[in-house]
Amino acid sequence: MREIQDHFFREAKRKGYRSRAAFKLIEIDDRKHLLSKGDLVLDCGAAPGSWLEVASPRVGHRGRVLGVDLKPIDERGLPQNVQVIEGDVLACDVPGKLGDLADVVLSDMAPSTTGTPSADHFHSARLCDDLLDRLPGWLQRGGHCVMKVFEGEAYPDLLKRSGRMFEKSKGFKPKASRSSSVEIFMVCQGFRGPDPEGIEPDDPQQAPRKKPTGW
Ligand SMILES: C[S@@+](CC[C@H](N)C(=O)[O-])C[C@H]1O[C@@H](n2cnc3c(N)ncnc32)[C@H](O)[C@@H]1O
Repeated sequence: MREIQDHFFREAKRKGYRSRAAFKLIEIDDRKHLLSKGDLVLDCGAAPGSWLEVASPRVGHRGRVLGVDLKPIDERGLPQNVQVIEGDVLACDVPGKLGDLADVVLSDMAPSTTGTPSADHFHSARLCDDLLDRLPGWLQRGGHCVMKVFEGEAYPDLLKRSGRMFEKSKGFKPKASRSSSVEIFMVCQGFRGPDPEGIEPDDPQQAPRKKPTGW
């Protein structure tokens, strides 16, 4: 397995990707066909930017990719259809920055790890829950979402919740994921709307979509 990991590391260097994480999105999208030409994509937790590099050519020059991360992302060398923002994606004005609802929301977000697996798992699951809460204001109906989560006891409920919000929702472990890693990617296809078991009548995420502002 170590050889496979070294292989992805070498391949990332050879192909000029910023990190080996690129191969996770490549495998997910090659299998599930989530990204299409012309798509508007939101990439949550995008630093250092290899998913941006993968998504950009897949959506083409008519598409756009917005990457948000707590850490700065070096914009040098990024394609023209990519825009980046430094900040907490859960706290910033995503609809205003997107200008329209996204066709695809990607999240490779990971919390800072503490070394305590159960705490890391719950932080990661919380990030996913918070992301699911925001999807009605971020994602088109029929759109897709990929979310990384550290597997653990909250995972089955998270998968059930996403299953209520999407036509299909499944866990996927790419080969480029380290075998020792507890990460798994929830691949959610065909967004239906807010979780019917969790809507507040005055939910701000139900706010009407904003007019495109262009970039
Ligand atoms: C595994 S890295 C992402 C790698 C990236 N997909 C790539 O291919 O280069 C996880 C990132 O999630 C970011 N992150 C965690 N919580 C976040 C939040 N609330 N808002 C924005 N970014 C967040 C971290 O700063 C970290 O850079």
